[in-house]
Amino acid sequence: MRYLELPQVIIYGIDSIDSLGEEAKKLGSRPLIVCGKTSAKKSGALDRAINSLKKQGLTPEIFGEVNPEPEVGDIERGIEIARSFDADVIIGIGGGSPMDVAKGIAVCLKSGRSITELKGKEIKESLPVINIPTTAGTGSEVTRFAVFTDPMIKEKFVVRGPGIVPKVAIVDPSLTYSMPSGVAASSGIDALSHAVESFMSNRSTLTTDMLALSAIDFINRYLEESVNTGSPSARERVSYASFWAGMSFNNSSVVLVHAMSRPLGAFFHIPHGVSNGILLPHVVRFNAPNIGDKLDVLRKVFGKDPWDRISELLERVNLPTRISQLIKEDIDFSPLVEQVLNNASTFNNPRPVSREDVLRLYKEAL
Ligand SMILES: [Fe+2]
Repeated sequence: MRYLELPQVIIYGIDSIDSLGEEAKKLGSRPLIVCGKTSAKKSGALDRAINSLKKQGLTPEIFGEVNPEPEVGDIERGIEIARSFDADVIIGIGGGSPMDVAKGIAVCLKSGRSITELKGKEIKESLPVINIPTTAGTGSEVTRFAVFTDPMIKEKFVVRGPGIVPKVAIVDPSLTYSMPSGVAASSGIDALSHAVESFMSNRSTLTTDMLALSAIDFINRYLEESVNTGSPSARERVSYASFWAGMSFNNSSVVLVHAMSRPLGAFFHIPHGVSNGILLPHVVRFNAPNIGDKLDVLRKVFGKDPWDRISELLERVNLPTRISQLIKEDIDFSPLVEQVLNNASTFNNPRPVSREDVLRLYKEAL
């Protein structure tokens, strides 16, 4: 038996952000908005969120300083603001970073513990979270995961559990129209990675496959247009693809790409979507002998061998295809390999993975 774990309420469509006030009012009276330094402001999402809340008589406090690839300190700063405001509903607006920090603040406030103390625990309870993406990639609005960096030990860690799933997800594709092309590219490739990995995962089901394949198809067809022309219809399609990929991997898991990508972020600060893109073709080719008929399905949806089409897509959206394009120094991969072998996503990979395999794959991607 399997069940789909999703937010209680999912609102989607152009201008759906205007429903925020109504939804927030059902959950609390003192909303804290969590966002980064630019995208929520530039997209107009922050102003629209504040207006929608005010229409319902709610005046939010704002924590607008979340850094990309957030660290433990981002959550600690947010908790201080939330405590002094006595926040009872947390609203994340932006890319994966603010949405994950919103989740982190909410679980810490509920449990009274720090985020590092919650590492590895199955989180059951949280203050209510409403997440609203302004990029199209992370799927954090619908997932039971939040990822943070612990700079002390150079490790990205995941906090997970049913309590991390936002109460409400609002997917308004119009908020992605103002994304810079580089963000559209890296976040779109993150979504593609979620979909392809979910499709290959040992825990995939026919239902998660349906969501994953729809996402792969849209990203394969529309990502170039979304990145290179910014066309609203292409951005809308990639937004939905990201949301579908999020629902898919939330219920089936990502696999070796994300497991290998996180240490590249923690050690070398390579942005998440960029490192996923570099690794994805290599991992799909590595997994190919163990995914049975699914390889033919991927060939059909991509129109050619998936690793060839993914590499082509990376070049067409101006993303690097090799680690050495970003890191010039010699890399000792051994501490990264250890993290990969201990990562939960590695255990869901369809092909068993040895230390030598991981090292070889990193070197192939170098
Ligand atoms: Fe991801």
